[in-house]
Amino acid sequence: MGFSMSVLVFSMLVFTPLCYSEYLNPQFYARSCPKAQEIVRSVVANAVARETRMAASLLRLHFHDCFVKGCDASLLLDSSGTIISEKGSLPNNNSARGFEVIDAIKSALEKECPQTVSCADILAIAARDSTVLAGGPYWNVPLGRRDSTGASLSGSNNNIPAPINTLPTIITKFKLVGLNTVDLVTLSGSHTIGFSRCTSFRQRLYNQTGNGQPDPTLDQSYAAQLRSGCPRSGGDNNLFPLDRVTPAKFDNHYFKNIVGAKGLLNSDEILFTKSQTTMELVKTYAENNNLFIDQFAKSMIKMGNISPLTGSRGEIRKNCRRINT
Ligand code: HEM
Ligand SMILES: *[C@@H]1O[C@H](CO)[C@@H](O)[C@H](O)[C@H]1NC(C)=O
Ligand SMILES: *[C@@H]1O[C@H](CO)[C@@H](O)[C@H](O)[C@H]1NC(C)=O
Repeated sequence: MGFSMSVLVFSMLVFTPLCYSEYLNPQFYARSCPKAQEIVRSVVANAVARETRMAASLLRLHFHDCFVKGCDASLLLDSSGTIISEKGSLPNNNSARGFEVIDAIKSALEKECPQTVSCADILAIAARDSTVLAGGPYWNVPLGRRDSTGASLSGSNNNIPAPINTLPTIITKFKLVGLNTVDLVTLSGSHTIGFSRCTSFRQRLYNQTGNGQPDPTLDQSYAAQLRSGCPRSGGDNNLFPLDRVTPAKFDNHYFKNIVGAKGLLNSDEILFTKSQTTMELVKTYAENNNLFIDQFAKSMIKMGNISPLTGSRGEIRKNCRRINT
């Protein structure tokens, strides 16, 4: 074996695992950008101090990213050239928010360590920091995701569960990305913070089954209260807290509400009314906040591992809204 061949084999053995690491790892930026996590945390903290809801909005962005082509920041791309932005999809239009905060994080990171930290990793860290700021659990975020060079509007429309989907459909959409019913119930617990528009639950108030009747599984006095701010027509964007008791606190009140027939979305309430397995877990979480909090961290790590681009796949975008030229 010649010298150059030995060098080649040696380099492959030594460097391949570093360059083509298949797995995400919390230490990924420890040497290349040691301040990365601190920078994300500080921008997120400022944004949430300005507006409490931003914690919820940033948490949701990671979910809407991961369910479409994996956690690859495809959600963040604006329309241009061949790209049709996911921001215009049914789940996202007039709803997904927080993109300017992601831009602010990215520009701070580009100053500190240019083209090093991916937009997909920014979303994952921001989701964790948002959870912590709202009073939820901390977890070490596995890192090393890279950014997509495309988006999928149809993926966004089809893969992200809709509030009017049946429970079997929602379970299937989770299963398609490797998440089980424990993950579904647990991650739905994100609805312990943040807001929904009237248009996302109106059907339950007026015509749930197509017979002109409200949803019988919705507490009737709560329904009446909701109807006063969410009329039959108009007021589509009027906002209501997903957790009516502690709307800004990351706790298990979401599950208590559901047990009391006061879950806001149809997709929340059916976790209690349409399957024995999910019903039992909702009850368990309603009674035990610690179990919810511990499993939430685990399920978030699992969601964050959905089909990342690693190694030399994808790119590190300079601007989260555009692919590099
Ligand atoms: C199980 C299926 C799910 C459905 C059907 C669903 C549906 C929705 C809907 C309809 C809204 C209100 C949007 C609007 O009206 O503008 C919402 C808000 C939200 N969702 Fe979900 N969601 C689901 C799972 C999740 C998951 C897995 C997460 C996070 C891991 C999440 C996090 C959030 C948060 C934090 C908000 C509030 C956002 C804000 O205030 O800006 N959701 N969701
Ligand atoms: C998003 O909503 C706005 C305002 O309702 C609407 O004008 C626009 O056409 C929608 N965009 C898409 C892509 O559907
Ligand atoms: C309720 O929905 C059904 C089916 O979508 C429709 O035919 C009916 O006109 C609606 N009724 C009311 C009172 O809105």
